[in-house]
Amino acid sequence: MTRGIDHVEMEKIVSLSKRRGFIFPSSEIYGGLASTWDYGPLGVELKRNVKDSWWRTVVHRRDDVFGLDAAILMHPQVWVSSGHVDGFSDPLVECKRCHKRYREDHLEGSSACPSCGGEFTESRTFNLMLKTFLGPVEDSAHQVWMRPETAQGIFVNFQNVVTSTRRKLPFGIAQIGKAFRNEITAGNFVFRTREFEQMEIEFFVKPGTDEEWHDRWIKDRLKWYTDHGIRSENLRIRPHGDDELAHYAKSCYDIEYNFPWGWAELEGIANRTDFDLRQHQKHSGKELKYFDDELQEHYFPYVIEPSGGADRATLAFLVDSYDEEPGTESQGTRTVLHLHPSIAPVKVAVLPLSRNEKLVPKAREVYQQLLEHFVCQYDDAQSIGRRYRRQDEIGTPLAVTIDFDTVEKDDAVTVRDRDNMQQTRVNIKELIAVVTEKLNS
Ligand code: GAP
Repeated sequence: MTRGIDHVEMEKIVSLSKRRGFIFPSSEIYGGLASTWDYGPLGVELKRNVKDSWWRTVVHRRDDVFGLDAAILMHPQVWVSSGHVDGFSDPLVECKRCHKRYREDHLEGSSACPSCGGEFTESRTFNLMLKTFLGPVEDSAHQVWMRPETAQGIFVNFQNVVTSTRRKLPFGIAQIGKAFRNEITAGNFVFRTREFEQMEIEFFVKPGTDEEWHDRWIKDRLKWYTDHGIRSENLRIRPHGDDELAHYAKSCYDIEYNFPWGWAELEGIANRTDFDLRQHQKHSGKELKYFDDELQEHYFPYVIEPSGGADRATLAFLVDSYDEEPGTESQGTRTVLHLHPSIAPVKVAVLPLSRNEKLVPKAREVYQQLLEHFVCQYDDAQSIGRRYRRQDEIGTPLAVTIDFDTVEKDDAVTVRDRDNMQQTRVNIKELIAVVTEKLNS
């Protein structure tokens, strides 16, 4: 597919998101809350499709990964054992003149404030975990952390999953859920926020096989993005340098996407070794070793962790699919989201040629039939050309048009393809089968 443009500016994505109901600034009527966003009617479908596609790929279509949905609030000791209380921090500097705060490692060695040129304070470590209190008394005995990663819910349930599933190594546990970080500098729309959703897998393997599994997961995860429509030239793998590895990781590779502001992390795939299980056994006093009945040996499995963000992935799908095609003088530029059908928020638009009383009942009937199978939108306002454009702009892969031939002649409809705009005549009896095939091809 040839594209009208190679790269889109972020402002266009933010504006389209607001205008069409993908993503809104949070609490907007009160002036918003910095770097906090709400997913609107189309955004919630898009993000849900991203999460569902991920779940289908890593849980349902594999026989070696189980799902989990752990609580956000966990025993405070979890975060001491995991090393987050002591080690989950970023270096913070503050401008002495304008008091803006920055992550020192994001300044690329610059010693002057990018905003006003002022001098910085000494760097200090800033813990990123957000805290809250359980029960009516706000004292440290009741303090709990908002989880900064979903991973720990998996580690503390490792033995429960082994016992309840009787599963042997290697196997994984997958989880999708909210995580919270008091980021020093959030921004770039939903790329870095303080409340976000993670899609994480902890894949437990026999020590010694970890590097091979690490390679396999990097390939599998990269393929998920390209299988769902991200152009491979906009993805790359970047190994972490020793100085950027998280406190628990032996090695880590980021899948990076070429966002409008440059290459940035979409997903990290880390070798966490046996760090977490070892720590939790030490601090809880509970046995978390795995019993290998072939070797008749207890040991801590190693862990490969593909950890992605649902919001970052959603943003990458929006950015990568955005295109503007030069149009005719009367119709102007065609803005289109070439979203993969499995990700697109609406699958089929049902459009009567006009609001003519002969067409509307038939169009409603076709719409009801399609609604049983697909997420659909019915639209009869304005010209058919405008309605096609409106659907292109939100990435609807197919549009079904009901015209006078439908009711007077052939009981067939026109099915228009978003990407090449070709139209095919399809008998209504075959419509569900044809649409299913087109959406899956
Ligand atoms: N359990 C490992 C872990 O949490 P991470 O690299 O810190 O690793 C994993 O986070 C993924 O979570 C990132 O690749 C990103 O997609 C997402 N993520 C992390 N911080 C985020 C933030 N502040 N806003 C949005 N997404 C974030």
